[in-house]
Amino acid sequence: MRQGKRPRTSQLYLTFRRRALASGSGRLASGLALLATLALTGPTATAEESALAQRGKELSRQHCARCHVISPDNRMGGIASTPSFMILIKALDDWQDRFQTFHVRRPHPAHVRFVGDAARAPDHPATITEVILVHDDIAAIVAYAEQLAREIK
Ligand code: HEC
Repeated sequence: MRQGKRPRTSQLYLTFRRRALASGSGRLASGLALLATLALTGPTATAEESALAQRGKELSRQHCARCHVISPDNRMGGIASTPSFMILIKALDDWQDRFQTFHVRRPHPAHVRFVGDAARAPDHPATITEVILVHDDIAAIVAYAEQLAREIK
């Protein structure tokens, strides 16, 4: 599922920075810091938005990628019968609404619940290992889908 995963910008930045500091080049390090900041935030999103989207991407990898292909870099992941996030965004006009409410749309109620919800009734077991979210996770996942939409549309 994680095959072919490219190193994250922040990891690349840390590697560069360690090298730059080792060679005593502070100016190179600060130039790279600026580049890394620009790469992370992109031209349209604010830093805060893209941090949220980054969290959403991690959550999607962790909780959604076992069924959905969640980004162009795990195209071979997921389950073929489950629509990829890219397809959902491209094909559905109301994809934002659907990402906001996926947890009540089938098949998700069979495995998603929120921290603080009552445990599942023993006669309604989860169909797969449960996904347990906090409500703020939804905003992060939606922010990630919005970032993905800007990338692919
Ligand atoms: C157990 C497999 C599975 C997991 C895990 C899963 N999904 Fe899905 N999801 C599906 C399937 C299958 C569909 C297509 C349902 C359909 O066509 O009726 C779907 C559809 C969707 C849709 C479109 C819903 C609609 O009614 O149009 C969204 C949005 C979505 N998933 C988001 C997510 C997110 C976000 C996560 C992770 C937090 C996630 N899914 C985790 C299987 C899964």
